[in-house]
Amino acid sequence: MTAEAFYVDGVRVPIGRARDDGYYAHTRADDLAVRAVRALLERNPDVPRERIDDVVWAATAQVGDQGLTLGRSLAILAGLGQGVPGYAVDRMCAGALTAIVNAGNAIRVGAQDLVLAGGVEHMGHHPMGAELDPNPRFLADRLVDPSALVMGNTAENLHDRFPDITRERCDGFALLSQERTAKALADGVFDQHVVPTTVWSPDGWRVVDVDEHPRPGTTLESLSGLHSPFRPGGRVTAGNAAGLNDGAGGVLLASAAAVEEHGLTPKMRMVDYAFVGVEPETMGYGPIPATERLLARTGLTIDDLDVIEMNEAFAVQCVAFLDHFDLPLDSDKVNPYGGAIAMGHPLAFSGARLAMQLAAYLDRHSDAQRGLTTMCVGLGMGAAVLWERA
Ligand SMILES: CC(C)(COP(=O)(O)OP(=O)(O)OC[C@H]1O[C@@H](n2cnc3c(N)ncnc32)[C@H](O)[C@@H]1OP(=O)(O)O)[C@@H](O)C(=O)NCCC(=O)NCCS
Repeated sequence: MTAEAFYVDGVRVPIGRARDDGYYAHTRADDLAVRAVRALLERNPDVPRERIDDVVWAATAQVGDQGLTLGRSLAILAGLGQGVPGYAVDRMCAGALTAIVNAGNAIRVGAQDLVLAGGVEHMGHHPMGAELDPNPRFLADRLVDPSALVMGNTAENLHDRFPDITRERCDGFALLSQERTAKALADGVFDQHVVPTTVWSPDGWRVVDVDEHPRPGTTLESLSGLHSPFRPGGRVTAGNAAGLNDGAGGVLLASAAAVEEHGLTPKMRMVDYAFVGVEPETMGYGPIPATERLLARTGLTIDDLDVIEMNEAFAVQCVAFLDHFDLPLDSDKVNPYGGAIAMGHPLAFSGARLAMQLAAYLDRHSDAQRGLTTMCVGLGMGAAVLWERA
């Protein structure tokens, strides 16, 4: 018999571009996460800080300003008190989703009652792959194809595997991401979980309060003119891929007992999850078997899901998912607020954003009961977590 784990609230900073003139070029990664943790607790004043049982925080690059076992660092830096422990997790792009699952599981077995879980990635300070030293055996022993180590190449490989997924369809999906994100921003959807953040730059202090990455003026024409950086004649471009970004955020999970004791209003229940491994050279395929496994475990079909928040690492990987489940490119229930192609994808943080947007959707659609958060993961994995309205 497992206890129930509830999603109570989630907070993130605006996502910045990982550039020398981006929002957070002069801000530490851990300070971004501290901003989110503090805001989360300020918004939930009935939760005593010292009663947080754990802080579970993800980063892909766990060095420099993302090192020093982040969860515990954040507990101290955010002023939770010396008695609050924490730890760091890494499942690359699904880092925060894994942190949330770990936190939820600690609650589900009855070991903990209040847990903060999230992620951070400052891709400006930690460029993808820059601090890695992959074991030479990966390639020498042909354990993986060389293309598996460059995510853009894995997306091109997915195009090879599914020739029906043309550049045109991917650009169409990317345009939709931009349009939906612009509409969600105008409708105030993100106000629910994005907190204004003060940042320093050589021009002085300023407050940022909207995501920096979206390009609302995007058109099919502008997308179709972009070149592919990954392969001559390739189909993956800056317009139909997620960007390189900085961001942080996390969620508060609680047990039924904590909900009652502290008078909290939970939004969702974590129902079940699946992680799978797939061929590393087509890692974008991961959400398909992960979702299939989760559906099989729970006896549900894709039609039983009212909303799906899928990370848009690359349009091709999302279109492959839509095709597999016989959903149209513009399916209302997949990424209703757009996704990482427009908003950006600070690797280990993004899973927390998916959970926040799922909660926002359930808040705004009283007829929706059930939703999925799903992501592909480098080195060939898929992640899927099932949620229900609390
Ligand atoms: C694809 C990628 C290499 C592009 O990086 P970049 O060149 O720094 O991207 P930029 O934002 O500078 O965009 C490149 C160009 O495309 C243009 N562009 C990007 N998006 C556009 C859009 N929606 N509409 C029109 N033009 C667009 C930019 O204006 C820029 O043009 P310019 O060179 O004339 O200034 C990079 O975003 C990437 O690697 N993405 C994948 C990240 C990843 O692998 N994540 C992990 C997933 S598992």
